[in-house]
Amino acid sequence: MKFFLDTAEIDEIRPLVEIGLVDGVTTNPSLIMQSGRDIFEVTKEICDLVDGPVSAEVAATDYETMVREAGALYDIADNVCLKVPLTVDGIRTCKHFTDQGKMVNVTLCFSATQALLAAKAGATFISPFVGRLDDVAADGMNLIEDIKIIYNNYGFDTEILVASTRHNMHILQSALIGADVVTLPPKVLHQLFKHPLTDSGLAAFLKDWEKTGQKIVK
Ligand code: E4P
Repeated sequence: MKFFLDTAEIDEIRPLVEIGLVDGVTTNPSLIMQSGRDIFEVTKEICDLVDGPVSAEVAATDYETMVREAGALYDIADNVCLKVPLTVDGIRTCKHFTDQGKMVNVTLCFSATQALLAAKAGATFISPFVGRLDDVAADGMNLIEDIKIIYNNYGFDTEILVASTRHNMHILQSALIGADVVTLPPKVLHQLFKHPLTDSGLAAFLKDWEKTGQKIVK
């Protein structure tokens, strides 16, 4: 399962890239707003830092303007993945670019039948928002299970990119279901490292090691 970071903050992306855990990045208009940066400048910096796909989202809602915006966004770098909303115009834009072999991430997916539309349009990624479904007392992870079944039934190549993840259980369940990608806020990725038994076990090992008086490197 690939790990994408869901952020436009360079200072949060760089250390996780250095660990070697980042397979891509997703941004959206809200994340660009929160970064306070120019979309072209910050997207270029992220694309230079990360080898994998970097999703950059259109702001237009009509097909013609989406296509023009897409041209400008794709020009930023070779690893830009266009992000379009799951609307009629968004799906049309998706098909237009995937027919040319370009990467497209279809976002704001909240139903399995929407995910079917994206796959039929050749989307590279479908982004179901699990956290936002949980917020309205629906079960976000059920949606991932349904999409997985549908995509397997027909052999669609579209990758399931679990979005709007909020905590470790979203990541665990995504892995158990066999999702292709999860996009995580950096805070959630850091949480995956944590276990109290790791902390107490390490403290005990270090204490005992000190008693040996040995050094592994001088
Ligand atoms: C996905 O690509 C979106 O950027 C993101 O996961 C939305 O998450 P949120 O619901 O926490 O805003």
